[in-house]
Amino acid sequence: MSQSIKLMVGNWKMNGGLAANASLVEPLLDGMSALSCRSALCVPAPYLAQMQHLLMGSSVDLGGQDVSAHDSGAYTGEVSADMLRDFSVRYVIVGHSERRQYHAESDATVAAKAQRALAAGITPIVCLGESLEEREAGQTEAVVKRQLAAVIHANGHCISEIVVAYEPVWAIGTGLTATPEQAQQVHAVLRSQLQAASTQATRISILYGGSMNATNAAELLAQPDVDGGLIGGASLKATDYLSILKAASR
Ligand code: PGA
Repeated sequence: MSQSIKLMVGNWKMNGGLAANASLVEPLLDGMSALSCRSALCVPAPYLAQMQHLLMGSSVDLGGQDVSAHDSGAYTGEVSADMLRDFSVRYVIVGHSERRQYHAESDATVAAKAQRALAAGITPIVCLGESLEEREAGQTEAVVKRQLAAVIHANGHCISEIVVAYEPVWAIGTGLTATPEQAQQVHAVLRSQLQAASTQATRISILYGGSMNATNAAELLAQPDVDGGLIGGASLKATDYLSILKAASR
């Protein structure tokens, strides 16, 4: 079973600026008032205060892009879950493939980050996905199951409070998208793994991410186990992002 109201999350990555953020968000909020999907924007940490202010009173939730696996202390440059909560952050991305790849984040680190977020009352959006080599070697299922198992193992019964994002690494920022069938196949695997772990798993949204755009969104979101999207590049242009949100609101 899947969630009927889609959850759409924009991941700005390391993009934006004070002026650019304001001019992106203003038309977005105008255009979004008539839409029926749930939505959030995951922004760079320095802009949390600005975005908290800009999104106040709107239906758009605020999200972070990463969180420390530690509570507090001597971890220069890190941002803790409690700090995110100070800015009314509702979601935080953990385990994005760019963090796994460029910052060598292990499955155990990602699981610990999800744990910290949950303890602070923030919903972790746990990203997982296979590389092109892994897909070509027929390892897709094994890889995503291993990545999810680490998070399930560390979080026990709290697992029903997470959001999962399936993001095939080969589809991120490349213009290549998983076909709706490929996405559905992996989402179904993740759904049954979650259901085996928790009787409350039906409430977990499983998002698809990887070059989702105005043209392919409707078809991907029509899949029975695709509960929403995690959108990078296309969330940086108000008109493109609004078209995707419209597809999610049908
Ligand atoms: P993309 O990024 O939409 O630009 O492919 C998605 C993501 O990395 O979350």
